[in-house]
Amino acid sequence: MFLSKILGFFSNDLAIDLGTANTLVSVKGKGIVINEPSVVAIKADKHKNRVLAVGKEAKDMIGKTPKDIIAIRPMKNGVIADFDITEEMIRYFIKKVHNRKSLIHPRIVICVPYGLTQVERKAVKESAMSAGAREVFLIEEPMAAAIGAGLPVKDPQGSMVIDIGGGTTEIGVISLGGLVVSKSIRTAGDKFDKSIVDYINKKYNLVIGERTAEEIKIEIGTAIQLDKELKMLVKGKNRITGLLETITVTSEDVREALKEPIKELGEALKEVLEQTPPDLAGDIVENGIVLTGGGALLRGIDKYFSDLVSLPVFVAEEPLLAVARGTGMALDQIDLLSNVEE
Ligand SMILES: Nc1ncnc2c1ncn2[C@@H]1O[C@H](COP(=O)(O)OP(=O)(O)OP(=O)(O)O)[C@@H](O)[C@H]1O
Ligand SMILES: [Mg+2]
Repeated sequence: MFLSKILGFFSNDLAIDLGTANTLVSVKGKGIVINEPSVVAIKADKHKNRVLAVGKEAKDMIGKTPKDIIAIRPMKNGVIADFDITEEMIRYFIKKVHNRKSLIHPRIVICVPYGLTQVERKAVKESAMSAGAREVFLIEEPMAAAIGAGLPVKDPQGSMVIDIGGGTTEIGVISLGGLVVSKSIRTAGDKFDKSIVDYINKKYNLVIGERTAEEIKIEIGTAIQLDKELKMLVKGKNRITGLLETITVTSEDVREALKEPIKELGEALKEVLEQTPPDLAGDIVENGIVLTGGGALLRGIDKYFSDLVSLPVFVAEEPLLAVARGTGMALDQIDLLSNVEE
């Protein structure tokens, strides 16, 4: 205890939004200091794998690496898919924040998806501990998203948030500082990208990679019919001839491709609303639903949900930063957070 206090005096507590797509780190008093893709580039060596790059630099290598270099996304569907690489990534970010003063062992708040199993929670804790953390606290993503979006989570009234990330979509109804109803489904941005890859393959016989699919989604993607259709030129490989080809993809194509995964989000939303106690539901009718996460930036997703459940739906300010902001704010109340069970 005493030692922990002394160490604490020298260390800077960190908050990490360890996302499937992006990792954001914030420091007390400074806000978000790191915002990079959750990607690690590895050079496979005879004896040991060597980390070549982390973050944006590594993401730029995806799909473009020579044989002995691989770009890995260690988080899948919101959980750790590759333990060692996740640890390397956390270690790298801790070092970066603390200017490589490797003696510092911070306390860390990490945001995790709602409903992780005990084993999955432990894996997150252990990777942060091996990466140099002194103590690890977890906060669930819908709660962090709601705090970061500025919702009155502590009040005795219902607030509702939908966080559409890369790996998971998290839906939560919050009141009096706790999650009253929540649900996490493994349908989010990555699934959207996959659906676009499959659709283009089927309709145009064109093989594209997931990065291209993500670019299409961001540039012309939509959840609803648009007044003016958007178009984009897309390069890929013809599945039958094997030749390179350029085609025009439209926003209607993308809407069609995303129909199924977006429908899944809608079903989950309806389920959560069904489970919401009537008084809190009344608050939500009044205050509406707030969208966070990168998926909130998809054109018309707010209108899609709003039409589906006949409730007001708003996109949070800077939705990509909401969870990290909320996790950062939780640093101020670190002692109230649940420590990870042994
Ligand atoms: N303008 C946009 N339109 C649609 N999708 C977008 C847009 N910008 C980013 N995205 C998507 O948002 C996702 C990343 O969002 P975010 O950073 O919130 O996820 P994450 O926190 O890393 O994932 P998770 O919370 O599931 O672990 C990616 O799938 C990305 O393609
Ligand atoms: Mg997230």
